[in-house]
Amino acid sequence: MKAIVIDRYGDAQELHEAALPVPTISADEVLVKMVATSVNPIDWRTRKGTAGLGAAFPMVLGWDVAGVITEVGAAVSRFKVGDEVIARPANSADATRGSYAEYVAVGEDQLALKPANISFKEAAAIPLSGTVAYQVIVNQLAVSKGDKVLIQGGAGGVGLYAIQIAKAQGAYVATTASVANHDLLRSIGADEVIDYHQTKFTDVLHDYDAVFDTTDDIENGLAILKPTGRLISIVGRPTAAQQNGHPSAKHWWLHPNGRDLAAVAELVAAGKVKVIIDSEYPLTTAGLQAAHQRSESHHAHGKIVITIADPPAK
Ligand SMILES: NC(=O)c1ccc[n+]([C@@H]2O[C@H](COP(=O)([O-])OP(=O)(O)OC[C@H]3O[C@@H](n4cnc5c(N)ncnc54)[C@H](OP(=O)(O)O)[C@@H]3O)[C@@H](O)[C@H]2O)c1
Repeated sequence: MKAIVIDRYGDAQELHEAALPVPTISADEVLVKMVATSVNPIDWRTRKGTAGLGAAFPMVLGWDVAGVITEVGAAVSRFKVGDEVIARPANSADATRGSYAEYVAVGEDQLALKPANISFKEAAAIPLSGTVAYQVIVNQLAVSKGDKVLIQGGAGGVGLYAIQIAKAQGAYVATTASVANHDLLRSIGADEVIDYHQTKFTDVLHDYDAVFDTTDDIENGLAILKPTGRLISIVGRPTAAQQNGHPSAKHWWLHPNGRDLAAVAELVAAGKVKVIIDSEYPLTTAGLQAAHQRSESHHAHGKIVITIADPPAK
């Protein structure tokens, strides 16, 4: 099968096309024929060797699956051949079984059905970003009706889902972004959008119930919280001093799981969460190199999608 791999850590030029065997599945896995995937910051951090992931080469990066099941393991009970699925695959600790490939092996517990009302390209933009946004907003911050929530970095892959999930929970949502993204963020429900280039959000926001930090700005996030407020960062780690002031402040690392992913898929199917795509590239050497460079700009607004194959004929 075709895959995009790296043979050593380095810059985007290390990404190149290769022919690899189709993965063999274990009893609790399915084989997915890929239609699309997407690029996340963890991909280029792993490519550079700074993410603490990946230990074997050739390394197949990529943690977003959208495709069709072509084979199921003997112990798989909830999915069948022909199901259209999405997943944030575990991609084993050595990162050799990623989603920049025509076929990916995925554990049954990581799968969810693709929402029927969106394309595979949109579906590929959901798993990693959507799951972490859901886990932080719903499971960790327990955002509920009437809460005032700040989402730092609202125009990013994660921020766009977090805003919409927080709105679906009934929260009042403030967010930070460059002016060029303000109309987009209002269109998906943000109540207050702050241009972080012009205004310190600490000057205008006070007494917040919850802060979701996607920009490594914990100190300022803590400054706007009520004494009982909660903060989760998916980038930085609160110091002991910061946790003394706000014991609930903590770092969160995504736990891949099909149950939370299915909850996001249901919000998408219900029209409560829209998928926002920044750009689209093919599964080629040039395509992946350009996609990584776009992600490394830190200014993608929405998800960077990689097209792999035509969707199945209906
Ligand atoms: N712990 C985990 O499990 C986990 C999971 C997923 C992601 N992450 C991390 O979370 C971070 C965000 O991920 P992502 O996928 O959302 O990244 P992304 O899509 O690359 O984020 C790009 C966005 O960040 C915004 N931005 C950049 N600097 C900003 C600032 N100072 N204030 C406000 N917005 C800013 C940009 O908006 P403007 O163009 O408007 O400036 C751009 O839209 C990354 O560091 C990623 O590695 C962690």
